Amino acid sequence: VNCLRLACAPAVNRRFQVKQTLVEPRLADEHASWSEQGLTEVPKLAHDLHEYETALIPHGLHVVGEPVSADARADMIETARDAMVEAGIDLDAPDQADVLTRLDENLAKDHELPALLHALDGGYIRPVSGGDIVRSPDVVPTGRNIHGFDPFRLPSAFAVQDGTQQAERLLKRLIADNGTMPKTVAMVLWGTDNLKSEGAPIAQALALIGAKPRFDSFGRLAGADLLPLEELGRARVDVVMTLSGIFRDLLPLQTKLLAEASLAAALADHEPLEQNPIRAHALAYAAEHGCDVETAALRVFSNADGAYGANVNLLIDSGAWDNEDELAEAFTARKGFAYGVNGKPVRQSAMLHSILKDVDAAYQNVESVELGVTSIDQYFDTLGGISRAIKKAGGKDAGVYVSDQTSGKGKVRTLGEQVALESRTRALNPKFYEPLLDNGFEGVRAIESHVTNTLGWSATTGQVAPWVYQNLAETFVLDPDMRRRMAELNPKSSAKLAGRLIEARDRAFWQPDDETWDALCAATEELEDRVEGIAVGEAA
Ligand code: BEZ
Ligand code: MG
Repeated sequence: VNCLRLACAPAVNRRFQVKQTLVEPRLADEHASWSEQGLTEVPKLAHDLHEYETALIPHGLHVVGEPVSADARADMIETARDAMVEAGIDLDAPDQADVLTRLDENLAKDHELPALLHALDGGYIRPVSGGDIVRSPDVVPTGRNIHGFDPFRLPSAFAVQDGTQQAERLLKRLIADNGTMPKTVAMVLWGTDNLKSEGAPIAQALALIGAKPRFDSFGRLAGADLLPLEELGRARVDVVMTLSGIFRDLLPLQTKLLAEASLAAALADHEPLEQNPIRAHALAYAAEHGCDVETAALRVFSNADGAYGANVNLLIDSGAWDNEDELAEAFTARKGFAYGVNGKPVRQSAMLHSILKDVDAAYQNVESVELGVTSIDQYFDTLGGISRAIKKAGGKDAGVYVSDQTSGKGKVRTLGEQVALESRTRALNPKFYEPLLDNGFEGVRAIESHVTNTLGWSATTGQVAPWVYQNLAETFVLDPDMRRRMAELNPKSSAKLAGRLIEARDRAFWQPDDETWDALCAATEELEDRVEGIAVGEAA
């Protein structure tokens, strides 16, 4: 405990400041008496602190026409330098020597409004491939046309190699947590993530199944081949994939590819069933339902043609739900369309229900520093939604995981760990929320979104620790100065944020003590009065 206080007392570094609060977001139990356990607990604490210190967070919102500030540029360049060093790039090599200088110059000047005006004048805008600034500094300057990708070359050879490593990393964590190799994994796939990474998440799905893309003699994607079990070196994993509507629209070839990999595994009749759960599950389902193996091997699910999202986020936003099962039902109603090898969607609710019952763990990649799982409502809509649907299907108590691809070699965390990390380094971190408050009205709305999305994770997974709500309440509602600042910038979002904390308590996601609760209710009333235009007393 002394070690914790010592390490946390001053602001730890530029990226992560520890804020004094009534109940700290505890990294360790205050009354822990470590003896032998200390040998593992203290290094774990040191490791956690390091992770928080080095977590990457965005500097407020992007404002069109405003170049990046000197401070923010310094952070970005340091981060890009670290990423290059980690990737083994020689910064002194002739073709690399001025990459960071150019990055700095390109970020320091606004290229967007001039480009927009030029385009409106009918001028030509140079194209550039899109991507992540840290991983590919060449994507700046912004204000250019982002050109597409070659759909015939996804997943790339690099993605296949990387996807294999990420799949093994996931399996290692699942084995460590559960003691056994998972048989069935649910994976959420998004379109933009695959564009940014040459199809790395698609490659992960293939690697888990034990398959690889097949290319024709022109190098064009032509299908999926199974890796022989001897080459794979482990059992296959039955992967149930839910695609975002954007993935389905952008990547029809890859949608068929994934269906083909599952079908090929289900048809591998020479393989022992304990090494091939896809075939084992498909045969059992076909026998029970009297259907063909093609139907029993359907593993790629998405929305109906032309529909997007699971609507779980809409339910959370409106607060119009009583029971968590309603969230699960929204998910399966929306995402219950199977895409087979012909690429055509067919409603297959029974198949989805049956496969969800078998799921050992659900996961999704996080591909961008800009957007964490608590930044936007689509993460809990998709990954949260499927987690709730798994629970409703009545299967095992499946774990929920996030594979963080934003730095280094990637890191697998439980959803609870990811929300704790993001809460500490983002929503509760002045380095994160002060730049948002500088953004004014829209910044306050972004902070409110973090709180609403946090509630979305509680509702869908139950994995948010109560201290998160306690600290959100203390930081944004119970502190009179902060409450006034936020209410002046955006009264509606401030009242909504406070209302979410009340809702979280009503839904038993946290149990504030009486003092906190009374203060929260009084503050919320004050914020609501402000929205309704009722004069707020001098003290406020
Ligand atoms: C996608 O790229 O598939 C996606 C992006 C944002 C929200 C939901 C899906
Ligand atoms: Mg929305």
